[in-house]
Amino acid sequence: MAVMVTGGAGYIGAHVVRLLRERGDDLVVVDDLSTGEMGRVGDVPLVRFDLADGSTVDPLAAAMRDHRVGAVIHIAAKKQVGESAARPAWYYEQNVGGTAHLLQAMESAGVDQLMFSSSAATYGLPDLPPGSLIDEEATPRPISPYGETKLVAEWMSRAAGRAWGLRTVNLRYFNVAGAGWDDLGDPGVFNLIPIVLGQLIAGDQPKIFGDDYETPDGTCIRDYVHVLDLAQAHLAALDYLDRDTRPYDVFNVGTGAGASVRDVLDQVASSTGLTVDPEVVERRPGDPAQLVADVRRIEQTLGWKAEHDLAPIVDSAWSAWRAGR
Ligand code: UFG
Repeated sequence: MAVMVTGGAGYIGAHVVRLLRERGDDLVVVDDLSTGEMGRVGDVPLVRFDLADGSTVDPLAAAMRDHRVGAVIHIAAKKQVGESAARPAWYYEQNVGGTAHLLQAMESAGVDQLMFSSSAATYGLPDLPPGSLIDEEATPRPISPYGETKLVAEWMSRAAGRAWGLRTVNLRYFNVAGAGWDDLGDPGVFNLIPIVLGQLIAGDQPKIFGDDYETPDGTCIRDYVHVLDLAQAHLAALDYLDRDTRPYDVFNVGTGAGASVRDVLDQVASSTGLTVDPEVVERRPGDPAQLVADVRRIEQTLGWKAEHDLAPIVDSAWSAWRAGR
């Protein structure tokens, strides 16, 4: 049976596709190429569908039958928090609508295994004591339309499990960065590490969005996970779906270790050899002081653990950046 990877031509999807290809899985990529790039999927067949378009359901189900698909990894989505606040209806149309059409096609084609790319954005601003980790039992309270669409899609897959037997693993990604290969770097400049690399290359200095948080150095703490580790988690989730019978699971994907904005900037200085002299500016609205994953569940259940810490994440992001991403 083949694996269908939606969003397989994107930054994260292309890493998943390459790892699956390396281990010899049969694959088919679905991508609308709005941000993905054909060149990233190599010789894997790619079908171009816009999942948000309802007329896609029947041809998508036909593609699942044609390619003998047994499981879907659903990564295709819009993922910019700020943009989601500006265009909420469009985000719901893209991310919730896209998932709804995918699930309809899966039901029609009899494909009952789904790995869904969810996000730590589902947690919102967790009310936790400083220094604590967030586990999957925390009540999700997303504060952006982006986080809401991810949570609604989780619910949709759970309801499909009850209705027609879909089995889903939701992976809640924390802060994904780095590159597994120089040609698969993050082409978007929307997150801290690529933003800072871009600023330094342009001769500008980074900005720290607030240094008066209740954290040891006052800057926000996040859990940065290497995209290659994240991609490996998808393979572990797929294998788990194949061997287990539970209908629905949610797993954090992080390292369990936090890094502050200043830690990241120090690492950027060390990885690049460039002078980093940040300016502290106002807080960015909606930033939790700290968001670090409790990773016990994924370690114990999927047997997956991140292998890389911050240094190889920034080193690989820089290497891919210099290679032209
Ligand atoms: N930051 C700065 N300066 C910048 C850019 C970011 O100080 O120029 C800070 C932010 O305030 C935050 C940290 O760097 O404290 C990380 O910011 P990002 O924008 O890179 O990432 P977020 O933690 O805000 O969000 C990311 C993804 C979301 C995802 C979330 C899950 O962008 O899609 O992680 O934890 F939902």
